[in-house]
Amino acid sequence: MEIDRILLTQEQLQTRIRELGAILSAEYAEKTPVFIGVLRGAVHFFTDLTLQFSHPCQYDFIGAASYGDGTQTSGRVQLTKDVMTELKGRHVVVVEDILDTGLTLRFVTDWLKSKQPASLKLCVLLDKPERRRADITADYIGFTIPNEFVVGYGLDYQELYRNLPYIGVLKP
Ligand code: PRP
Repeated sequence: MEIDRILLTQEQLQTRIRELGAILSAEYAEKTPVFIGVLRGAVHFFTDLTLQFSHPCQYDFIGAASYGDGTQTSGRVQLTKDVMTELKGRHVVVVEDILDTGLTLRFVTDWLKSKQPASLKLCVLLDKPERRRADITADYIGFTIPNEFVVGYGLDYQELYRNLPYIGVLKP
């Protein structure tokens, strides 16, 4: 397996993330939001995005996984780590690398909503709408991408490629 081509360069990613950071900074200026990163794919997006948020905020993380080692979702989402912050009455922004079938974020948002936050919004770097199986849309989207298996910038294939600084398409 190798990279076939670069879909989004490091510069394209960082430019768009600065824009998203500015949008969130305007909308959450007075709200001290809790940014919740979905482990593990969102790590790079989470750190770069939150560095662009220019007001007080909190961090937390939730773990969810459904893909195992392959390119196809198992369809079963497992909670691997819960948040530690009391979310009741808080403004929550879930930060995720990719909205693909939507099964992961459907599960994660249902889980977090049961904690009664004041608001809950979804911010995803990549949206792949062609593959959607769950009824869910993101509030903030970095890029809408075609139905290709992408890796890099946190996204893996068999746990590798997460440390590429760009988003690439794997050779079939
Ligand atoms: C990937 C990705 C998202 C999810 C999106 O996670 O990071 O969390 O799949 O896919 P979906 O919309 O089809 O549910 P994965 O389960 O591979 O775990 P990881 O984040 O640890 O890589």
